[in-house]
This record gives sequence, structure tokens and C-alpha cells, in this order.
Amino acid sequence: MTTASNNSKRQCLVMGNWKMHGTLADNAKLLAALRPYASKNAAMAVCVPFPYLAQAQDALKGSSVTWGAQDISVHSHGAYTGEVSGAMLKDFGCRWTLVGHSERRSMHAESDQLVADKARAALAVGLTPVVCVGESLAERDAGQAVAVIQRQLAPVLALGADSVNQLVVAYEPVWAIGTGRTATPEQAQEVHAAIRAALSAIGAGNIQILYGGSVKAANAASLFSMPDIDGALVGGAALIADEFLSIAACGDQA
Ligand code: 13P
Repeated sequence: MTTASNNSKRQCLVMGNWKMHGTLADNAKLLAALRPYASKNAAMAVCVPFPYLAQAQDALKGSSVTWGAQDISVHSHGAYTGEVSGAMLKDFGCRWTLVGHSERRSMHAESDQLVADKARAALAVGLTPVVCVGESLAERDAGQAVAVIQRQLAPVLALGADSVNQLVVAYEPVWAIGTGRTATPEQAQEVHAAIRAALSAIGAGNIQILYGGSVKAANAASLFSMPDIDGALVGGAALIADEFLSIAACGDQA
């Protein structure tokens, strides 16, 4: 297996995924604390629940912190009750959308192909999709981690180099999400290098690959020191302003 690769590191990206958390009042405090963040080496972004996109736009516009959604419809418009289109996300100034988060893959039966189709829908309206991949504990224990990720990525890679060069990949081992059990930097790097090798094979080896799964200020620096880890997708710790700002500070120093 590939163990290391690209020489020049990409810009670090520290992205919060609020999941289904927040209230208008709590968000106002969190966004106000993030707003002054001045991006140096690390860019900061937050992916908020749909109803709070307007609030994020109001609170962050003119700052260096960007915002996005946690999902996108594969359809551009139409009779799709409960869905939210890419054009709607653009109306609220979104720069990003997550696609294929493990919670959507497992709880909403999203297939690898659907995730790729959502990435394509995002690109079609000028959003940057953050394609999430990751293996379960059983898959890791069976030695299948890299094979699972290659399977998840296959329909995304089939979008072609032009598309893939415009997206971000997030490696989030399911067993590390919300468990407090982070992959070691070496475990994460091993998978990131394999992802980069797959990306390189189609001519997209220099896109950002984020790590996600119990990232906090205490472990961010060691993760970011790995050659193929270009930032973090942060759940719980992104809801605590000081913690999230400290993770970004680690990225600035990476
Ligand atoms: P935690 O950081 O809470 O483990 O969540 C990770 C995640 O799922 C981010 O998308």
C-alpha cells in the first residue's frame, strides 16, 4: 500500500459539520465568535442545518469564514418534497455541501452512485462538494478499509478528472465518528495516501483530503502533520467556539 505521497502540502481546510444541532440563539454566539477568524494557512468553513443558512450568511458575509450545507438534492427542481436543491443553496451564499456523510449513507440508504450524483449536482451549480467516505469497524477489522473506500469513490472518480479536481474528499472512519476514538495519525495517513493514489491515477492527486472523526484541539496538530491530511471535518468540537478556533490554529501552523 502507498504510505506517503505528495510533496507540496495543500491549503489546510478546517470545516465544521454542525449536524442537527443549534438554535438561533446558540448559533448567533458561535458564529459571532468565529467571524473574526483571519485565515492564514488554514481556511475555516461551517456546514449548518438548512434552516440556519440565512443566519450563517448574515453572520459571516464579509468575513473569511465560508459556509455550506450538509446535503444536496440530486435534482435541480421539481416535486421532491423535503429536498433542497443546489440552486437554493447558492441563493444563501453557500460555497460547500457535504455529500455522502456516513450518517446519510447508513440512515438514509444513500448508495455510492447517489453520492456521486449529488457531487455532480453540486458541481453543476458551482458548489464544492465534500465527498465523505469511510469504513465501519467491522470492515476495518476484516482488513477491508481501503477496499471499501475505493468502492465508495469509484463512481465519484468516474465523473472524470475535470470534476474531481473541483471537489474535496473527507475520510471519516465510521468507528471514529462521535466516539472519542480518533484514528491515529498513522492509521489516517495510510488511508489518505491510498485515497490520493486513487485520485492521482485519474489526474486529480492534488485535491484536499480532510480527516474526520473525533478531531479536537488536542489531536489536530498531529493529524495535520501527516503529508496527505489537508485539514479536518469536525463534528462535536465544531460546536464549541474555542475548541474549533484552536483546531483552525493548528491548521495555521501545519
Ligand atoms: P465528530 O467530530 O463529532 O466525531 O464527528 C465527525 C463527523 O462526522 C464530521 O462530519
